[in-house]
Formats: sequence, structure tokens, C-alpha cells
Amino acid sequence: MALPSINPTTTESWEKLQEHYSKIKNSHLKSLFAEDSNRANDFTIKWEDFYVDYSKNRLTKTTLDLLLELAEEVKLKEAIESQFSGEIINQTEGRAVLHTALRANESSEVFVDGKNVIPEISSVKSKIKAFSDQVVNGDRKGYTGKSFKTIVNIGIGGSDLGPAMVVDSLQFYKNHLDTYFVSNVDGDHVNEIIKKLDPETTLFVIVSKTFTTQETLSNANTIRGWFLKTADQSAIAKHFVAVSTNIEAVKNFGIDENNIFPMWNWVGGRFSLWSAVGLTISLSIGYKNFESLLEGAHKMDTHFKNESFNKNIPVILAVISIWYNNFFNAESEAVIAYSQYLNQFATYLQQGIMESNGKSVDRNGNNIDYQTGTLIWGEPGTNSQHAFFQLIHQGTKLIPADFIGFKESLHGNKEHQDKLISNFIAQTEALMNGKTEDEVLRELNKQNVSSEIINKLLPFKVFQGNKPTTTIFINKLTPESLGKLIAMYEHKIFAQGIIWNIYSYDQFGVELGKKLATKILKEFEINSFDNHDASTSNLLKYYKE
Ligand code: F6P
Repeated sequence: MALPSINPTTTESWEKLQEHYSKIKNSHLKSLFAEDSNRANDFTIKWEDFYVDYSKNRLTKTTLDLLLELAEEVKLKEAIESQFSGEIINQTEGRAVLHTALRANESSEVFVDGKNVIPEISSVKSKIKAFSDQVVNGDRKGYTGKSFKTIVNIGIGGSDLGPAMVVDSLQFYKNHLDTYFVSNVDGDHVNEIIKKLDPETTLFVIVSKTFTTQETLSNANTIRGWFLKTADQSAIAKHFVAVSTNIEAVKNFGIDENNIFPMWNWVGGRFSLWSAVGLTISLSIGYKNFESLLEGAHKMDTHFKNESFNKNIPVILAVISIWYNNFFNAESEAVIAYSQYLNQFATYLQQGIMESNGKSVDRNGNNIDYQTGTLIWGEPGTNSQHAFFQLIHQGTKLIPADFIGFKESLHGNKEHQDKLISNFIAQTEALMNGKTEDEVLRELNKQNVSSEIINKLLPFKVFQGNKPTTTIFINKLTPESLGKLIAMYEHKIFAQGIIWNIYSYDQFGVELGKKLATKILKEFEINSFDNHDASTSNLLKYYKE
């Protein structure tokens, strides 16, 4: 069955939302709290180890009811069912979308083209486990008989960002192996990493769903060339493994058939860290922790699939985002994690969110005349407070922000943790309340500032407040809670794509630039650049002169 394809702006709820928006667009969050003493509790979802407080958003119960009505009207429930049951919902590429099957129970059944895919998934998981155990235990040796000390993941996009983010985020749980990620086709990246490697003790994991990606193949070839300066061809089988759907291309690269970890075309690149693409995760933190990550994601899957929309975390986050994007015309959203461990989280989300929902043609093939995909950005708190928070507090743009924090620290230093969490909570309070003229006056008077200076300074010291935030407070950063958090955003992406009536699982937009780069690379060989616009040919000639 095809996904529903309803233009959201033609629904009754959309019209009602527009009307409602004109009534509440200027309401201040402070008054919304004053008017409803249950607001904080009513707009909080407690689920497992997650406490999600969305009360500091510019909405009322009516807003939420209407947004959820919109989700019903565009048939989100049916779409969720279609995704989980393996229907071909990535219609432009003719594929099912089943990252959820990768973390499903072994006893479940998910059919693609009439075949249950769970046994295949289990068998690849067993292969990941056996391989990771051997490498971590030191039983698997390199070509000179030494155990491995270093892992290098070679991949880009979904074949890099997910594993890199998870390995970095879960470094507290890491074993003795050093892990590096090579992604950029910029030779500086691979060369700087090569400097740190010992060929005798390094294992290379080449990750490419298609095994045709320029960056990954260039880096893999460069590394193989470097490796063969000290080792001979037969050593490749011991030091190079690959994750791909393109088995033939992997074999042609020279990788031993036993060293290939398969994946399937029903796993999208940016949703693939749960498959063998996560091999580097399993190698770095051990298979048991990798499994916990998957279990966490599975719990979020079950919540998303079964929970009613008014208590469904990804659905609530999705509709709030639609509210700002399509009614308040907010262009971007910030994700601020109050954990240095989540340093790479916003970067990771950028691919997930912007590659999925950066679309301007709807599921009927029509050009869209409403806003879709949000810009996503962020850096960890508290660093970001000293970087871009000024603009969120006092700038002209409305930037809804997710604040992610963990109650318990992993390092155990209470003094630091209290300081961190006081900032985490204080910022959401400050963004909401702002600072009125009266408050500024009182403060300056207390400091005995002259009235002349007070009058001059007053407008600059006022904060309007009313800046929306959602607080996602999690007990502790563990493989399981990280799995839940990532899956929460994955489902938010999907729910938004359904409401916007777009296909979230293709990415044709990244093709054009890739093709042109290949064409230009060929032109470098013949030194002929006239077949371009004047600016482009000037730049090419300037490079080559
Ligand atoms: O950037 C486009 C893209 O196709 C991503 O969707 C994907 O994650 C990345 O390239 C890498 O692709 P592959 O795993 O096939 O090398």
C-alpha cells in the first residue's frame, strides 16, 4: 500500500491552526504558565528514563489538539504501520524502510517481498558479535601475529556520521582499542590519520552501502597503498573488512569474502548505524554495549508505534516543530546537549534531518508551496552559551531549541555536575522569562547607577523572553539511553515527513554536485574548461594555471 499523500495545507485542521495561530501568536509563555497551573505537568511526558518537558513552548492545549488532529488527518498512524510492516514506503527508490527491523526482537517477523528478514539480520548480528569478540579479546591477529590495537573506519555520510557520533558519545564505555574515522576526500584527513597508524596492528573497516562513493574508495585505496608498502597482498585479508550491499565491488577491491558484512537496500544510509555499519561501534565498545544501544532504540520504536499521539514523544516533538516551521515561520532549530560526550550529536542529526526532509516536491509529484525541512544546528552547553546564545536570547530570529541533559554524570564529580545542570535549567528559564524593564531598572538601581546611564542602557538590557525550548532530561548516558535518543529523532523525522507529504527516505539532491565533480575531474586531465559558465571556468582555470 502506498503512503497517504495528503497536502497538509488542504486539511481542516490546518485551517483551524491558522486561525488559532493568529489568536495566540503574541501570547507570552509567562502568561500561558500563569493561566494554567497544571501546564508544566500536563505538558511533560515521563517515559522509562526520559523526562520530556515541552511546556516551555508557545502552545496551548488547543494548539496541541489541533496539531494532533492534523497528524490524524494526514494519516500518520497508518503511515507508521506501513513503515514498521515493511511496505515499500520509499516509493521513489522502490524500497522498504526497515531500520526498525534491525533492532526488533529475534522472535518477531518482518516481511520484505514475502520473506522474513529477521533471520538474516540475526545471522549478521552473530557475525558482528563473533568478529568483535575476537578482535577485542586479541584472538584475531594481524599479518605479523600481533593483536589489533587500532580500528580505522573508512566511510562518509551515514557510513561515518552515525558510528563516529556513537563511538564518541559512548567513549566512557570504550575498550582499549583506539578508533579513528576517515571520511573527507581532502587528503589531509587520511594522511593525518595514517601518521598515527602501525600497519601491523591496525584493522580497517571500509563502510559503503553502495561501494561506489568517491570519498570512501579514494581513502580506502590510499590506505591500501600505504599498507602495501610494508605488508604484502596476502595481508589484506587479515586487515581489511567491508560493510556493503555491493558484494561484487567489495570482492573486486580485494577483500576476502569472509570479511564482508552485508547490509540491505531497505536500510537507508543515514539510518544504518544499527546494521553492520555499526561494526566499528561494536568493536569500540564491545558487542554487548552495541546490543544495548539497539535495545534502547527498540524500546523507542515500540513507544512510537503503540503509544497514543498525545503521549507519544516523537509525535509531539514532530508536531511542535511543524507548529514553529509552518505557522511561526521559524527557519531553524537548535539542539543543545549539556554533555560534552554529545559533541557530535547535532552534526549527526544534520544529515538525518536535512537529507531526509530537505524536499520541495510532495508525494503527488507537485511542487510544494509551504515550508518543509528545518535547518538544524547546535553545540554542547555550556560552551554554546559563550558562543551563539546571545542571538537566541536577544536576536530577531525565533529559534526553538531542544535542551538535552543527563541527571547523573558518568565521571561522578558532583560539583561539576551541579554547575552543568544549573546552567542547563537556568538557560531554559531565562529564554522563557526574559527580563522586563522593571527588572532591569531594579537591578541597575541596586548597583547605584546614575539615572542618565540607566536611561541609556535600559533598552539594551531588556530580554523579551518567550523563546521556546523543550527539555529532554535523561537519567544517565548509557548505550541504551543513547539508542532511545537517536531513535526518538529518527521517528520525529519520519512523522514530519509524513505531515509535510514528502518522501523522507530518498536523497536525489546530493547527486547533481557529485556528477559535476566527476565531470570536472575528467576535464582536469585534458585541461579544457570552456564548457561552463564564466565564473566556473574562471575558477577552474585559476586552479590549473
Ligand atoms: O550523501 C549521499 C549519501 O548517499 C548518503 O545518503 C550516504 O549516507 C552517503 O552518501 C554514503 O554512501 P555509501 O554508504 O553508499 O558510501
